[in-house]
Amino acid sequence: MTTLKPLLAKNRSWALQRRQRNPHYFQQNVHSQQPHSLWIGCSDSRVPAEVLTGAHPGELFVHRNIANMVVAGDDNFMSVLQYALEYLKVSRIVLCGHYGCGGVQAAVALPDLPLYGENSPLARRITQLREALAPGLAKADRIGDEKERLNQLVEANVLAQFSHLIAAEPVLNIWRAGAELDVFGCVYDLQSGHLKELIQQSAEETSP
Ligand code: CO
Repeated sequence: MTTLKPLLAKNRSWALQRRQRNPHYFQQNVHSQQPHSLWIGCSDSRVPAEVLTGAHPGELFVHRNIANMVVAGDDNFMSVLQYALEYLKVSRIVLCGHYGCGGVQAAVALPDLPLYGENSPLARRITQLREALAPGLAKADRIGDEKERLNQLVEANVLAQFSHLIAAEPVLNIWRAGAELDVFGCVYDLQSGHLKELIQQSAEETSP
């Protein structure tokens, strides 16, 4: 049997340390939040948004799911996006993937997995991810080194989800209203702890 004790003990010592450093640390966030950024990342335990950006409570509005997917038909994701933009008025969105992403690996290997053909939420998401990655999969086939191939696909996934994000209604509404919003696509390196920018956009794409 497991208990909450270790988590509660760490929580109390964290809260105490924060108050010792700044007696108003918690008070300043009690009545409202004004996060500067919306973070869209992978649920992976090794990619904790606040920890790796040194952010404090109140700074990031966060949505995480398997393989940092942006799906227009996903009410959970879309409600977070709408709320962050329309109500919290964040001026920055960070979409963050990471090397070594198990979701991307599963999408690549899907036909060989027991998950394949299963009717479950997880199987449906990974199937959707594989579809989003289809163009990247074709290109990555030429890469011999397995690790390099997966790294390429992780980046391709960020770009694919980024293209969904900048075409999402709430994002377009902000840009069309002339408000400031910068959208970034990044990848996180588990080995170095470094975040790298892959792509950025600040206005609606105008067709050439
Ligand atoms: Co992941």
